[in-house]
Amino acid sequence: MSHDELLDVATEAARTAGALLLERFGTERVLATKSTPTDVVSEADLAAERAIRGILARRAPDDAVMGEEGEDVAGTSGRRWVVDPLDGTVNFLYGLPLWAVSIACEGLAAVVYDPVRDELFAATADGPATLNGTALEAIRPPAPTELSQALVATGFGYDPARRVLQAEVVSRVLPQARDIRRGGAAALDLAWVAAGRLDAYYERGINPWDVAAGELICARAGLTVERLDPVGELPWGVLAAPPAVAGALRELVR
Ligand code: IPD
Repeated sequence: MSHDELLDVATEAARTAGALLLERFGTERVLATKSTPTDVVSEADLAAERAIRGILARRAPDDAVMGEEGEDVAGTSGRRWVVDPLDGTVNFLYGLPLWAVSIACEGLAAVVYDPVRDELFAATADGPATLNGTALEAIRPPAPTELSQALVATGFGYDPARRVLQAEVVSRVLPQARDIRRGGAAALDLAWVAAGRLDAYYERGINPWDVAAGELICARAGLTVERLDPVGELPWGVLAAPPAVAGALRELVR
């Protein structure tokens, strides 16, 4: 399959899941908790992932699939889909319109779909990053050249011990940056960095499905995108920033 065909599959899956989630937005309740009492899953998460997996099984039957809410599926094509049917689950359950569907065919094609705003962020390995079809580089404001001018997004995990360590890191970044934002949906954070609504993003302790699509979209939008090594008890992470700012941010989050 070409990159454009993969993007078409990702788009169909994300729009289908997005429509299903939007119908339930504002009425959904917590179905169960996962790793900690704050790590929740709703019936909407599960229904959205089922819909996405159904489309992948029909249109890309030879590909592997890894999704937040289901078992890994093995493939024979060498391609792997990484799926977060609902990134920003807590926001979704609070009726807070900051959540998205994130679907990547790893390294090849990616979409982050925000159904509330009907905004589809997309990229392929050899095409531009786009928002509803318009190249992001054409509509993005000029990037800051210093960290002191950068609006930096980050996130926190669900485990209290991990949050203590993440709080230490953010306490180093906050005095050096324009400000900090914690939106609650990593995929959307990355898409918005690509669009220039945020300047940079970092987070350690993230899951592959939270960032797989956003990483490709940021990279194709011309940003520096790096995997951060684990530090002590903090697992690997992701940093995305304008090239002029990435070095200073990397130093602070080391
Ligand atoms: C979470 C969000 C959040 C990030 C957490 C993720 P979920 O994903 O992306 O912004 O800080 O690390 O686990 O649980 O809403 O799919």
